[in-house]
Amino acid sequence: SRTAAVIPAAGRGVRLGPGAPKALRALNGTPMLIHAVRALAASRAVSLVVVVAPPEGAAEVKSLLDADVLPERTDFLVVPGGQSRQESVKLGLVALPPGYDIVLVHDAARPLVPVDTVDAVIEAVRAGAPAVVPALPLADTVKEVEPAETPGAPEPVVATPARARLRAVQTPQGFDREVLLRAHETVTDNVTDDASMVEQLGEQVVVVPGHEEAFKVTRPLDLVLAEAVLARRRL
Ligand code: CTP
Ligand code: MG
Repeated sequence: SRTAAVIPAAGRGVRLGPGAPKALRALNGTPMLIHAVRALAASRAVSLVVVVAPPEGAAEVKSLLDADVLPERTDFLVVPGGQSRQESVKLGLVALPPGYDIVLVHDAARPLVPVDTVDAVIEAVRAGAPAVVPALPLADTVKEVEPAETPGAPEPVVATPARARLRAVQTPQGFDREVLLRAHETVTDNVTDDASMVEQLGEQVVVVPGHEEAFKVTRPLDLVLAEAVLARRRL
């Protein structure tokens, strides 16, 4: 069985603040996207990486990847992304050549995912799960609220789900290719991950252990943490 990885990298990074598109921001001198591609290419199972680039940055992404040393076994493709993450992932899937029966979807914004997490996801798909997500237990208690119309106004609490049953979901999420394609052709609501689209098809999604270092770079403080992790790894 052959595995491809689709890396949505077309977001602006509004929550990170003004500057280049988030995936092109440097972490210890190397663009976040390059860290993310290397992290997936580190898995011996991954033979193709499809990068979904910011539409105006596709040529730059292509030359960054041409200049980078990826393992011999790893091919890559660059396609321009869309208006939403969901649309960007779909554009990556459409560009996927035949012959890959397992597809990973991995946020460029999670540049430091360890290869063991990537391999654990692939292994669970190979073992027969149509959809696999890495996830961690929560540190914070989570409350459902009635969102305020005015930002910053007090919000009434509606419920407190039992924290022990909750998981914070990461990427790469791994899929049987046919199931993921069907999900993207069928589900049109706004979703924040690919696995939830598969859930809507009625297919079983399973969770495997995620990793702290697979955190998503979202806000400025996350850049500080990412660079500290890289320094600890001496990269
Ligand atoms: N993404 C994408 N295409 C979009 C929006 C997001 O490919 N139109 C990608 C991002 O590049 C990122 C991943 O989806 O790798 C997760 O999204 P997020 O962390 O929300 O990144 P941004 O959308 O760029 O950030 P923000 O929401 O703060 O603008
Ligand atoms: Mg976003």
